[in-house]
Amino acid sequence: MLRSHKECLKLGLSIVLAAGFALAEQGRINAQPIAKAAAEQEPAPPADQTFTGTKACAACHFDQFMKWKSTPHAKSFELLPEKYQADAKCLPCHTVGFGQPTGFKDIKTSLDLKGTGCEACHGPGSKHEEVAKKYANQKLTPDQEKEVRDSIWKIQPGNACVACHQMQGHHDSSTPPELRTKK
Ligand code: HEC
Ligand code: HEC
Ligand code: HEC
Ligand code: HEC
Repeated sequence: MLRSHKECLKLGLSIVLAAGFALAEQGRINAQPIAKAAAEQEPAPPADQTFTGTKACAACHFDQFMKWKSTPHAKSFELLPEKYQADAKCLPCHTVGFGQPTGFKDIKTSLDLKGTGCEACHGPGSKHEEVAKKYANQKLTPDQEKEVRDSIWKIQPGNACVACHQMQGHHDSSTPPELRTKK
């Protein structure tokens, strides 16, 4: 039987949180802010944004970029053996936005969308960049800061992590068994 919509949402959220915490236990990721971000109600950012790539984000978010660069997410494309680097079975989780119109296509044309980049978790950010650029080089008023923040997800809604980390959602991993180093 289908549960009520509200119950489903709650279940979805608890899966995200459980995954966040399970991953946090493996180290490197602090689940506390993830729980906080997922629990907060956020207005939806403007629709129809295109992917800008990680470098464009780094231009304004250097600290976050440097932190991200030291995580396994930054190198998740390089994990793929060469014969899989154009394989549609692998790319949805090892690149940004593969299969979407402005997402990763191939390594020549979309170098800056390889790996689990910023927009894999925050969603595409072209309009966020436009909004932020209106206020570049000035101190933001609280209203302006809200406008900028509301133009991108703090974390995409739904099972943002579990979309790729399926094992945490008790499905088997999509990664071929012979390539797994840990179980
Ligand atoms: C022109 C500068 C600029 C660019 C480019 C930019 N941002 Fe931002 N972003 C900001 C500013 C300013 C804020 C407001 C908070 C702050 O001052 O740090 C912000 C806030 C955010 C937030 C917080 C959202 C929230 O709900 O609180 C996220 C997440 C974010 N940016 C991600 C990104 C990502 C991902 C990209 C690349 C697609 C990107 N930004 C590109 C300037 C920029
Ligand atoms: C549904 C998302 C998803 C798909 C599809 C996917 N992967 Fe992965 N892959 C992951 C995640 C998440 C990890 C990190 C594993 C972990 O620590 O949970 C990973 C890890 C890996 C690793 C490192 C494994 C290790 O144990 O060190 C390799 C290699 C890899 N994937 C190759 C592939 C290949 C090749 C394909 C396509 C045949 C593929 N993956 C498809 C999500 C995916
Ligand atoms: C694996 C998912 C993931 C990736 C990849 C990722 N982020 Fe985030 N980011 C989050 C989560 C979850 C939060 C909210 C929790 C927090 O504030 O730490 C967040 C928060 C932020 C914030 C808001 C900080 C504030 O002041 O409120 C900014 C800005 C941001 N990320 C930028 C980036 C940029 C730039 C990149 C790429 C270089 C990036 N993120 C990559 C998950 C991710
Ligand atoms: C677009 C797919 C994707 C999304 C979304 C994603 N990840 Fe990942 N994640 C990966 C891949 C692929 C790897 C493998 C990188 C490696 O092992 O080098 C990985 C690795 C990790 C690792 C390191 C695991 C290890 O065993 O070394 C942690 C921790 C992690 N992710 C947490 C998260 C969290 C928390 C979120 C949500 C906020 C998230 N991820 C969202 C694809 C994703």
